[in-house]
Amino acid sequence: MAKSAFLKSSLAKKYWMALTGLFLCLFLMGHLAGNLQLLVPNNALNFNKYALFMTTNPAVKILSYLTYISIIFHAIDGIMLTIQNKAARPVGYAKSNPSANSPWASRNMAVLGTIILVFIVTHMVQFWSRMHFDQNMPLQTIAINMQGMPQEFYVTTDGGYLPKMQVDQKMIIIKDRTDFYDAAANVKIKEGYKDLYKITVAFFQDAKYGLIYTLLYVVAMIVMGFHLLHGFSSAFQSLGLNHSKYTPAIKTLGKGFAILVSLLFAVIPVYIHFFLKA
Ligand code: HEM
Repeated sequence: MAKSAFLKSSLAKKYWMALTGLFLCLFLMGHLAGNLQLLVPNNALNFNKYALFMTTNPAVKILSYLTYISIIFHAIDGIMLTIQNKAARPVGYAKSNPSANSPWASRNMAVLGTIILVFIVTHMVQFWSRMHFDQNMPLQTIAINMQGMPQEFYVTTDGGYLPKMQVDQKMIIIKDRTDFYDAAANVKIKEGYKDLYKITVAFFQDAKYGLIYTLLYVVAMIVMGFHLLHGFSSAFQSLGLNHSKYTPAIKTLGKGFAILVSLLFAVIPVYIHFFLKA
């Protein structure tokens, strides 16, 4: 390939990597905000309502498809760019002192990105695929009060409800907790809620593997933190948004974003495994 054509294709790839990368940063902020609900005590019903909204709302669906496309595009572009850069690297470069020229994260973006890709695929198999395709997904049991007669129902996804048992007390307590009580359900039973909350908590509290899953998630979040540490500000450079005044601020913002987002994500499995009483 002629040198100018090579540079052009490499610049185009960087441009698309930057755009998809920044879009994925937006996704991360949204996903984090949603998942932080897992830290709120007695919040199962709200979390499940939120999950239902996120998987059925048409506008959110479009954003989800954009997210999947961005992940695939970002990964393929990244692999191609790494291969191109390796091929173009002058002989002897490896013997120079790379750590003096660029920080560790920036030299290992491909490795960090590959680990994140493996994480995303396994993560989606665990949660997303169950939410979307698992016919045996547990449904959240909701207590409703029909004509002053407290009853426990299984609410089904097609809008019906199946009486489970009658209990002789005003305030219904399910599994020793009152948080499943939803006064609105008394008058409006439109849909049941797939119990994503239960699945998520069970995953990190699994008697055999819960600790390992939790640790693996924390490691994945550290890896993501390093990837973002370089990726966030480098995206602005790839888009040509370089400014002597703003670039230092963007770099600081990028570092703050990387640390805060990864840290908060990591707190979730740690909290569920070690502190949440299910
Ligand atoms: C550690 C805390 C995390 C928890 C507890 C968590 C939990 C979940 C759950 C329950 C779902 C299924 C909900 C749904 O399908 O809408 C999901 C989907 C997903 N997660 Fe996570 N997640 C975490 C971190 C991450 C991170 C760090 C990434 C990316 C690097 C990520 C990427 C995704 C993607 C791409 C989906 C599919 C989203 C969609 O369909 O729009 N998650 N996550």
